[in-house]
Amino acid sequence: MHRIIRIPPEKGEEIREKAVVEKFLDTTRKIRRIQTEESTFLEIPVTEAAGEKVGDFPVTEQEYPEFLEKTGSMKEYLKGSLSETELSQVPSGWHILGDIIIVSIPDTLESKKIQIAKALLSMYPKCKSVVRDFGIEGQFRQPKRELLLGTSTETIHKEHGCFFKQDVTKVMYSKGNLEERKKMSKLGKGEVVVDMFAGIGYFSIPVAVHAHPEKIISIEINPESFAYLKENIRLNHVEAIITPILGDCSQAAPEGEADRVIMGYVGTTHHYLETAIKSLKISGGILHYHETVPENLARTRPEERIKKAARCLGKKVEILTTRRIKKYSPGVLHVVVDARIFE
Ligand SMILES: C[S@@+](CC[C@H](N)C(=O)[O-])C[C@H]1O[C@@H](n2cnc3c(N)ncnc32)[C@H](O)[C@@H]1O
Repeated sequence: MHRIIRIPPEKGEEIREKAVVEKFLDTTRKIRRIQTEESTFLEIPVTEAAGEKVGDFPVTEQEYPEFLEKTGSMKEYLKGSLSETELSQVPSGWHILGDIIIVSIPDTLESKKIQIAKALLSMYPKCKSVVRDFGIEGQFRQPKRELLLGTSTETIHKEHGCFFKQDVTKVMYSKGNLEERKKMSKLGKGEVVVDMFAGIGYFSIPVAVHAHPEKIISIEINPESFAYLKENIRLNHVEAIITPILGDCSQAAPEGEADRVIMGYVGTTHHYLETAIKSLKISGGILHYHETVPENLARTRPEERIKKAARCLGKKVEILTTRRIKKYSPGVLHVVVDARIFE
């Protein structure tokens, strides 16, 4: 278990010092600053020695640990087999999904990739495979990845009390969307929810597990993601809540049924706005609309697109919030707009 305490930023220095002096700071993981809509806090990684509480702050399990390069260990391990120049280029970060290490390696170290993978596996003996990451592409949001060491690329990642089985070379998993997934898991009690871009169940599963909706219709176009969606529905025991549909949501989305529609896809999401609005009950409902947008248009373009689609269908819009999920690329933000659509 990876333990953390969540504390207000102003307590950061005091608690970090206490953790160092009392020897319960876990120096293998990063101290992270987390910003949610409600608050900002620090996640301090701690060891078992912290016990159950540090002052007023309970010790809890971290769902998405981020590891620091152990001081010198990657470089130390590779000393002798890599030149000084190569050593200066070895990756300084990676992330771990389930028991698989995912790492970006520069092209200049192509001939050393297996040595790098071996170094990582020796640093994390509980992990079974190392996969090289080249980014995400296409409508199916498929990652380009290469298995470097190990035999399997399939794993089960646990997050926020939910299990996500996936093959890391076939489907993406965005750690930047973690807070949004948690936020969504509180919404939808007693409602009919349509998840138009369900993937392996990134939003559908936490909503089904935590929010007690009446029903979720989860649509996914990519057969490989769809197979994992069905498996994750079983793993999380939410068969009675989620109806998975393999298909293009522009054709497969139901009409006039939903209280809430989740549009967790970026790129051309606005093309699906009219479908999403038609999916809501005639009396209306809530849209969660994702868009990647240049920073200077983040406050205007997504809202305008929703209003335009609603106007075409004779509906009205109340914008509830626009929030930033993460920086998507230089100068471009991934944002979500929550909007109420009504007659
Ligand atoms: C990968 S998810 C987005 C990531 C997610 N929001 C997260 O928290 O990590 C988007 C999914 O939408 C699917 N998709 C793209 N176009 C679609 C369409 N027209 N109908 C249904 N699914 C679609 C893709 O295959 C992909 O699995």
